[in-house]
Amino acid sequence: MLHTPLCDLLGIEHPIVSAPMAGTATADLVAAVSAAGGFGLLGGTSLGGPEWLREQIRAVRELTDRPFGVGFISSAPGTADLMAVALEERVAAVSHSFADPTPWIEPAHRAGVKVLVQVQTVAQAVTAARAGADAIAAQGVEAGGHAGTTSATLPLVPAVVDAVGTIPVLAAGGIADGRGLAAALMLGAAGVWMGTRFVASNEWAGGEWAKARVVAASTDDAVQTRVYDLIASAPFPEWTADRVIRNPFVDAWQPREDEIPTHAAALRKQIEAAQSDGDAEVAAVRAGNVAGLIHTVEPAGEIVRWVAAEAERLLQERPAQILR
Ligand SMILES: Cc1cc2nc3c(=O)[nH]c(=O)nc-3n(C[C@H](O)[C@H](O)[C@H](O)COP(=O)(O)O)c2cc1C
Repeated sequence: MLHTPLCDLLGIEHPIVSAPMAGTATADLVAAVSAAGGFGLLGGTSLGGPEWLREQIRAVRELTDRPFGVGFISSAPGTADLMAVALEERVAAVSHSFADPTPWIEPAHRAGVKVLVQVQTVAQAVTAARAGADAIAAQGVEAGGHAGTTSATLPLVPAVVDAVGTIPVLAAGGIADGRGLAAALMLGAAGVWMGTRFVASNEWAGGEWAKARVVAASTDDAVQTRVYDLIASAPFPEWTADRVIRNPFVDAWQPREDEIPTHAAALRKQIEAAQSDGDAEVAAVRAGNVAGLIHTVEPAGEIVRWVAAEAERLLQERPAQILR
C-alpha cells in the first residue's frame, strides 16, 4: 500500500487531493473523493458566498465522515469572509492559491485547521514554507485552469522539494493516472493534486458538455490564454494564464487581446449564452494537457482507487523491468 507523510498529515488513505475548482468542485465531488480515501477540496471561491459555502461544507458531512477541505482563489475579493466560514466549520484543511498565503496561516492554525498552499514558482514555495504552510502544491504550467507561465511540473516539483525541507510537497498539473502519481513520488512529492481528471467524473458540477469536450480533447488541444480573464475582468494576478481546451473563440480573440476591453460587454453576453447552451466552441472548458489521457467519465471514488492502485503496481513492477 502507498503511504506518504501527506497521508499522516491529512488522515487519508491515498495521497491524492482533488483540486478546489471554483463553482464545480462541490459537495458531491468532495465527498466522493474523501470517502474513497483521498482528500477532497471544495471550490470555496464562488458567487454563492459565505452561506453557500457553509451549506456545502455541511452537505459533505452528510455524505461522509472522512476529512476534507476548502480551497480559495486568494486574490479574489471576499476571501476573508469565506475563510471565516471554513474556520468556523473546522474543516480539516484550507488551501490558498494565487496570493501570498502568509496572512491566512496563523488564524487557520489557531483554529486547528491545516493550510495547503498552491504555488507556481520556487520563490513562492519558499515564502509559503517560511510562513508555516503544512503542505505545498507545486503547480506546473500544464495544469488545467489558472496557473503560472514559467515552469512545468517535472522541473518544478523536485526544485520545490529541495527548497522546502521536510514540508510535504504535492505535484499539481499533468497527472491523471497511476503513472503520473508514481512519477510524482519519484520526484520526491508526497502526493498529487489533480483537477482535470476529476472534471471528467460523474460528480463534477460543470456541464456534461464540458466533460465530453475533455474526453474528446487531445494533449495538443489545451492552451494557455488570457482571453476569458480579460473579458470577465477576473481577479487573477497578471503573471497567471488560464488553460482551456482550444476553440474557435480563443483562436479568434487570442491575437486580438488588446481589442477585448472595447468589446468586453458584448463578449461577456456571448459567453454567458454559450455557457447556458453548452456551446464549447465559445464557452471556456478549463482543462490541462492531461485531457489527452482521459477517455471516459468515471465515478470520482473509482478514479481515486484506480490511480492509487495503478501507481502501487507500477512502483512494484517497474524496477524489475528496468534494473539490471
Ligand atoms: C476546471 C478547473 C477549475 C479550476 N479552478 C481552480 C480554482 O478555483 N482554484 C485553484 O486554486 N485552482 C483551480 N484550478 C487548478 C487546480 O487547482 C490544479 O492546479 C490543476 O487542475 C492541476 O492540473 P491538472 O488539471 O493537470 O490536474 C482549476 C482547474 C480546473 C481544471
